[in-house]
Amino acid sequence: MNKDQVMNAPRSVLVMNDENVYADAIGAGHGLQRAEVAALAGRVAEFHRALRAQRGADIGFPELPYDAALAGQVRTAADEIRARCDNFVVLGIGGSALGAIAVHGALNHPFHNLLPSGHAARRGAPRLFVLDNVDPALIAAFLDVVEPELDRTVFNVITKSGSTAETMSQFLMVRDLLRRRGLDPAERIVLTTDPDPKRSLLRRMAQDEGYAAFPVPANVGGRFSVLSAVGLLSAAVGGVDVDALLAGAAAMDQRCGTADLDANPAARYAAIQYLLDGKGKSISVLMPYSSALRRLADWYCQLWAESLGKRQDLAGHDVFVGPTPVASVGVTDQHSVMQLYQDGPFDKVITLVEVEDATLGGADVPICTGDSEEELAYLAQSTFGKLLAAELAATRCALRDKHRPNLTLRVPRVGPAVLGELFMFFEHAVACSGGLYGINPFDQPGVELGKVYTYGLMGREGYDAPRGAGV
Ligand code: PA5
Repeated sequence: MNKDQVMNAPRSVLVMNDENVYADAIGAGHGLQRAEVAALAGRVAEFHRALRAQRGADIGFPELPYDAALAGQVRTAADEIRARCDNFVVLGIGGSALGAIAVHGALNHPFHNLLPSGHAARRGAPRLFVLDNVDPALIAAFLDVVEPELDRTVFNVITKSGSTAETMSQFLMVRDLLRRRGLDPAERIVLTTDPDPKRSLLRRMAQDEGYAAFPVPANVGGRFSVLSAVGLLSAAVGGVDVDALLAGAAAMDQRCGTADLDANPAARYAAIQYLLDGKGKSISVLMPYSSALRRLADWYCQLWAESLGKRQDLAGHDVFVGPTPVASVGVTDQHSVMQLYQDGPFDKVITLVEVEDATLGGADVPICTGDSEEELAYLAQSTFGKLLAAELAATRCALRDKHRPNLTLRVPRVGPAVLGELFMFFEHAVACSGGLYGINPFDQPGVELGKVYTYGLMGREGYDAPRGAGV
């Protein structure tokens, strides 16, 4: 069947085309039967009911788009920050960084930090940085850029737990630098952390040292927090329309309000991915044909891996499940990993993201306006937008013809509402996938173990170093 699944919510614009995951398109040995997807309807309905029951209590991410009060506070703070800085720096890691990076990559000018500050495309925003590593070479290089301008820099320290070694070490460094420069850290640091001072040391410091602070809701985990202050503040400082971002997310959330696999694209996506994993397609590639969405794919990898990569199921049995997410970008990776995707092991499902209008602000770029060689006329007379679209279509057909399951998520353009939809789509999909795998998609015991061992190795009181670490 050659039919897009056009979803019926009026404000949602994402279209999922799953025709190339079925046996009639890619062959019986590789594709699904539609009946297999339909057969999951009962289980999906069950998880959907459970999600609805826990929504707003244990599970907070679907509620984030509706927090208008927070959005207002973020906008106000962002206006004030924009007026007094040339650099805005996010200090955070994992779910406290990847959302901000995805938003910045998608919605700000690709060369934002290089544009002259008065350029219209900068939208009056400071330069934006996200420092999500403790590599000393990176830190030193970052300081080369920012230290001379400390008095025109604002830092947003984001850590839900308020204790992560990477972020807290960056916080200590920055506070120290500011103090040594005679600057008041409380004027130059904004915190985003758990609202409960009993849980977050950083929250206690906000109270003791007078930092402005935003909350990370207790029922929202790091990788689900991009639509909270975690992602919204840097977005608003960058001039992103956060109301549109949230509206897009709300539109998708509403579309996901049904368990009907023909109407809820996230549930259908989860069901397809789950079934294909069961057939040995355990690598889930997200490949946007858009440089702007490249970082969305990184965000997706964390969301997918930390949520679904689990040792135990809900009953405590060892299951060792989880598809392996991989980020790719079109067209770049057509000349890299695509060879493997087409001719290597039959272990992948590839999600392409198609952006109908991939231009910057609506103007396509002609390839050539003058004469060209005859052999190159097919290019010279065209545009980069048309070339990109042709390459995506070529990839989709090549994957199909090589019996590789692939889906396409089509959006009209990259903008705040569309990005909000995509965030919410994947978050609902991963929550539903957790149900299908029978695991808890909202914890991350492996990440926590790494944190605890790091504390031990660094000599934090109350923590032991792991055996045989040899540091
Ligand atoms: O998604 C998650 O929960 C993790 O990736 C966290 O975001 C990451 O470990 C950072 O934690 P925190 O925000 O507590 O510093």
